[in-house]
This record gives sequence, structure tokens and C-alpha cells, in this order.
Amino acid sequence: MKAVVVDGQFGLDNIKISERDAPKVGAGQVLIKMKTASLNFRDLLMVQGLYNPRQALPLIPCSDGVGEVVELGDGVTRFKTGDRVATLFSQGWIAGEVKAAYTGSTLGGPIDGTLTEYMVLSEEGVVGVPDFLTDEEAACLPCAGLTAWSALVEQAQLKAGQTVLLQGTGGVSLFALQFSKALGARAIITSSSDEKLERALSMGAWKGLNYKTQPKWGKESAALTGGQGVDLVVEVGGSETLAQSLRAIRAGGQISLIGVLSGNVTDFNIIPVIMRGIRIQGILVGHRNGFEAMNRAIEQHQIRPTVDRVFPLEDIRGAFDHMAAGRHVGKIVIKISD
Ligand SMILES: NC(=O)c1ccc[n+]([C@@H]2O[C@H](COP(=O)([O-])OP(=O)(O)OC[C@H]3O[C@@H](n4cnc5c(N)ncnc54)[C@H](OP(=O)(O)O)[C@@H]3O)[C@@H](O)[C@H]2O)c1
Repeated sequence: MKAVVVDGQFGLDNIKISERDAPKVGAGQVLIKMKTASLNFRDLLMVQGLYNPRQALPLIPCSDGVGEVVELGDGVTRFKTGDRVATLFSQGWIAGEVKAAYTGSTLGGPIDGTLTEYMVLSEEGVVGVPDFLTDEEAACLPCAGLTAWSALVEQAQLKAGQTVLLQGTGGVSLFALQFSKALGARAIITSSSDEKLERALSMGAWKGLNYKTQPKWGKESAALTGGQGVDLVVEVGGSETLAQSLRAIRAGGQISLIGVLSGNVTDFNIIPVIMRGIRIQGILVGHRNGFEAMNRAIEQHQIRPTVDRVFPLEDIRGAFDHMAAGRHVGKIVIKISD
């Protein structure tokens, strides 16, 4: 079978398609014929050696994918052959609070990921996906979709009438936009591009702010709420955005700390966090129960993930370059098989 591997050393120049033996299914496992995968910013960092420089190589990258169950191991009860399933980011996380050990069970590093024709996973580590979604759309759910869901629903418990601030028009932020709308909340979204802001407004964002031409977008977001501040910030920017997020948030509001697009080390003033009772909540994707709840909401609201572009497996380098250039809106998808 064909699989994409990063081999020898890290770097986009070291990704190649290699031939491997198809994996054998064991007790409690399912063999999946992979159809599609989607890229997350983490996958780019992983391949570049910036996510975990100690990651062992060779590695099959990517955490997210969708495929068809083609063989069952002994004792499998959750699925039957022919079922369409998506991968669970943290293979061991079924429900409850995050545990440190779960980072050892994540796909696309340290465990081999989804850019492969066949994959064997525990039946506990895959989830059915809504029928109405295409394989390309369903492949967007495991990391970006579930992370947005965990931030808005599981942690912040966003309510109708509240206001959320989203950063950029990447995978996590556009899912957060779609979920906010479904929950009856209004979304302010930032982008480096007026054209991308137009796109987000056409998807139902309430207001758009260009973070390049409006660098005080945090203060401006608070002003849009009449000075009170937003109820939730979905913080994906990291070091360059946290200070503005703290300007945007209301007293008692929550900042969901998710991403490090601009870096992961920053100084910020602790005093307003204390005096204004702001909650800063780290998010690590989410658990399987959350994934299943998200799927029900997606079905009920007929939410279609935003697919920016689909690349064939053979052009995996083109897909990573497209992400690195930041030209995308929403998700970049890889077609593995029909
Ligand atoms: N903690 C978790 O569980 C978790 C899960 C998923 C993702 N993440 C992290 O969250 C971040 C976003 O992931 P993603 O997969 O959604 O990425 P993505 O799809 O590649 O999104 C990138 C987009 O973010 C915007 N952006 C880039 N730099 C920015 C900045 N300095 N300020 C504001 N926006 C900026 C850009 O949008 P415009 O072009 O519109 O400006 C860019 O196109 C990454 O750091 C990723 O590692 C964490």
C-alpha cells in the first residue's frame, strides 16, 4: 500500500510516498480503507520538526481522516464492514477531563497518522460520521471541528445572544463560526484579508476586522459590544494575539487558548485577568463523547465544513505548501482513494 512518510529528517523536502505492507487487523481493531484526510496546522509543524523535535521517524503524518471499515478483528461490536468512520485525534480519550497520558495516543505523531491507504485502529478510536457529508467534508471533523466544539460547547458553554471573537479564517475558526451561528451567538472574526472577511461575513459572521489594517482589533471588538467586551475568545493566534484578546474579553469572560500561529511565548499583564475574573482555558482537541455530540449537532443544523481545496495524495507537498502560504479559507483536504 501507499503511505506518505516523513523520513530521515524533518522538513517538507523529506516527505515522500513510500510502499509499505498493509497492516493486519487484531482483536478489537478495525481495518480501514482510507478515503480522505485533512491537514491541520499541527501537521505542518510536525513535519517541520517544530511540534515535537523528539518525534521518532519515519512518521506517517496527519491526525484526521475518513475511510470505510473493510475488516473486523475478533470481538468488534461497535462497527460492521462498510461503515464510514473518522479517526479520533487522541485514541485513548473517550470522555471526561484531559489526562497527560492522552498526548501519547494522538495520531500523526507520536502514532502513525492518516496519509495511508489502509489503517488499523482500535474500534474505540474511530467515530461514525453524518451520512449527508461527503468524505472530503467529513475528513475535516476530527481535529479542527472537535476543537471548536470543545471550546464553544464543552468548555465555554456558549449561549444564544452571546458574542464570540474568532481569529483568522482557518479550519478551527470557521468551524467556530458555524457552531456559534447554530448556537444563536454572534461572531466577530478577524483576518489579514478583506476578501476573506467578505467570505466569513457571507457565512454569517456578525462583524469582520482586518488584523493587519486594524491592529487594535481587540479594543474594537469590545467597542462593537458597546464597551462591555465579548463573552468568549477562540484564541488561535498565540503570542501576537493574546494581548488584544485580553482587551476584547468582558469581565468574567473566557479565553479558549488553542493555537500558536504567531508563536507560543508571550508576556502579558496578569492584573486585568485577576481583577476582571477572566478564565483562560487550554483546549486539547476533545474526546469521543464530544465528537459524537458534535456530529448530532452537525446533522441537526446541516452544517457543511468549509473545504478550501482538495489535493491528490501524490501532491501532498503542494497541499502542505498551500497551508504554509496561508492562502486557504477553511480546510485543506487530501484525496487518498475513491
Ligand atoms: N489546542 C488544540 O487542540 C488545537 C487544535 C487545532 C488547532 N490548534 C492550533 O490552532 C491554530 C489554528 O489551527 P488551524 O488548523 O485552524 O490553522 P489554519 O487552518 O492553518 O489557519 C491559519 C489561519 O489563521 C490565521 N492567522 C495566521 N496567523 C494569524 C495571526 N497572527 N493572528 C490571527 N490570525 C492568524 C490566518 O487567517 P487569515 O488568512 O484569515 O488571516 C491563517 O490562514 C494552530 O496554531 C494550531 O496548531 C490547536
